[in-house]
Amino acid sequence: MAAILSISDLRKSYEGGFEALKGVSLDIDEGEILALLGPNGAGKTTLISTVCGIITPTSGSVRVGGHCIIEDFRAARALVGLVPQEINLEPFEKVINSVRFSRGLFGKPKNEPLIEDILKKLSLWDKRNAQVKELSGGMKRRVLIAKALAHEPRVLFLDEPTAGVDVELRKDMWEVVQELKDGGVTIILTTHYIEEAEAIADRVGVIADGQILLVKDKDDLMAQLGQKQLCVHLSAPIKEVPSSLATHDLELNQEGDALIYSYDTKAERTGITALLNDVAAAGLVLADVSTRQSSLEDIFVGLVSGEKS
Ligand SMILES: Nc1ncnc2c1ncn2[C@@H]1O[C@H](COP(=O)(O)OP(=O)(O)OP(=O)(O)O)[C@@H](O)[C@H]1O
Ligand SMILES: [Mg+2]
Repeated sequence: MAAILSISDLRKSYEGGFEALKGVSLDIDEGEILALLGPNGAGKTTLISTVCGIITPTSGSVRVGGHCIIEDFRAARALVGLVPQEINLEPFEKVINSVRFSRGLFGKPKNEPLIEDILKKLSLWDKRNAQVKELSGGMKRRVLIAKALAHEPRVLFLDEPTAGVDVELRKDMWEVVQELKDGGVTIILTTHYIEEAEAIADRVGVIADGQILLVKDKDDLMAQLGQKQLCVHLSAPIKEVPSSLATHDLELNQEGDALIYSYDTKAERTGITALLNDVAAAGLVLADVSTRQSSLEDIFVGLVSGEKS
């Protein structure tokens, strides 16, 4: 599939010299949903704002549908819709007018059936004549999405669309995102919620400290979740893993009193029986055994803390 968005070695230094993006490269395929996970201050909003032309990059290039975001700004920007992290709506505006206005900003001709369709899809049709200030927080977020869709973008950026949104509405949002994808829109969303990435993304990217640490197919990441750890607690600490256990690829914990064995839960043979036999043969006395399943959260936390150390 062709890349609809191509980001290459993108850097951004804010006034004062702080480098918020340190050479980000990323290709997004048409029709996919990419979830960008990253801690506060990672550079997610900076990245999105740069692609949408709100922030000027220091160096590097961004192309949307082949159009350079700097040299061919209008053509590139017309393909992009942005749902910003902060709610920035005019409180006295009627919902439907606010959405019509967004379409007008792009110089697109009136299209009332389209506006109706967008408002219905986002369950805002009943509220079309309400003033924005009369809406709940979740409804305001949906108005932001409606506004971002009004000019029929091919790529939609959602900057933390479900921050502070309750579980039920979050699931509604996921459905909306899925429907947009089914309608051919490419979606990039940022989130702090790992389960959100798990639920809707085709690919997951992790960003920290201005750098992309990983971009992976979600299913491959989920396959990594199949990893389980067996922890063999020893009755007395040891200094190193005995050489007779070398084939099991064990890790010794810091205290020296537990051996950690990672295995694939989906494998036909986990190797646990052989391991326990060999541990006994090595003269080690077991105090206890326990298992734990690694999660996307572990992978994420491990990556991000590795970056900081
Ligand atoms: N206008 C600005 N001037 C100077 N520094 C800025 C500016 N905007 C953002 N930064 C800094 O750039 C870094 C990245 O900020 P950014 O808003 O992109 O992070 P984020 O990943 O979106 O975080 P969050 O999850 O909190 O929304 C932060 O250290 C932030 O303080
Ligand atoms: Mg942000």
